[in-house]
Amino acid sequence: MDSAELHATVAAWYRENARVLPWREPTASPWAVMVSEFMLQQTPVARVLPVWEAWMARWPTPAALAAEPPGEAVRAWGRLGYPRRALRLHAAATAIRADHGGRVPDDHAALLALPGVGAYTAAAVASFAFGRRHAVLDTNVRRVLARALSGSQYPLNAATAAERALAEQLLPHLEGPANAPAGAPDAPVTAAEWAVASMELGALVCTARSPRCADCPLADACAWTRAGRPAHDGPPRRG
Ligand code: ADE
Repeated sequence: MDSAELHATVAAWYRENARVLPWREPTASPWAVMVSEFMLQQTPVARVLPVWEAWMARWPTPAALAAEPPGEAVRAWGRLGYPRRALRLHAAATAIRADHGGRVPDDHAALLALPGVGAYTAAAVASFAFGRRHAVLDTNVRRVLARALSGSQYPLNAATAAERALAEQLLPHLEGPANAPAGAPDAPVTAAEWAVASMELGALVCTARSPRCADCPLADACAWTRAGRPAHDGPPRRG
């Protein structure tokens, strides 16, 4: 399967099977996307949803959050875990207000310069909120690529330069929103749609412990399946 076919196959699956999540709506603001990515980094979607809803209702903009003391952010973070993320999000909001006129910056370098924003979050926000072309390598995407392309059950613990290079090379060239136009099943696949679609495939089908290969659009092409789905030999890996 060449990369164009890979994009089209995974995007077609995504257009039929994606969960409807508020931060993926075309109307979601960049700030809404950024808050979701901070919360989703170490917490599952189901637990994030109610906290994200309450957070966005209370602080619909970075400036609204920055106007309150950091302790309020930690309190609102509730039981999502790793509450340091709340402080980092507050610090990012404060920098956005001070340095970017209250608007989430739209390019990777400026995002990365914000406090608490690492390579993953900068790529995710640039891609999902602004339609920029970046490899978004979360653990779900990394597992899909490890299996489909490399034939291994799990990715390595940390992404290597070679893995990043492969993911960059694999990106669709088209920039633009992650949402394909409604009612256009053959619409071309943007880099952002590929990112969210491969992430969703990893979350729903190509799961870490019990992948549903019978439901996978890539089953016929998957290097891991073709090799007979060998179990990873060694200590369990993250993801
Ligand atoms: N949609 C966009 N980013 C996501 C993430 N990190 N987890 C789940 N769904 C997402």
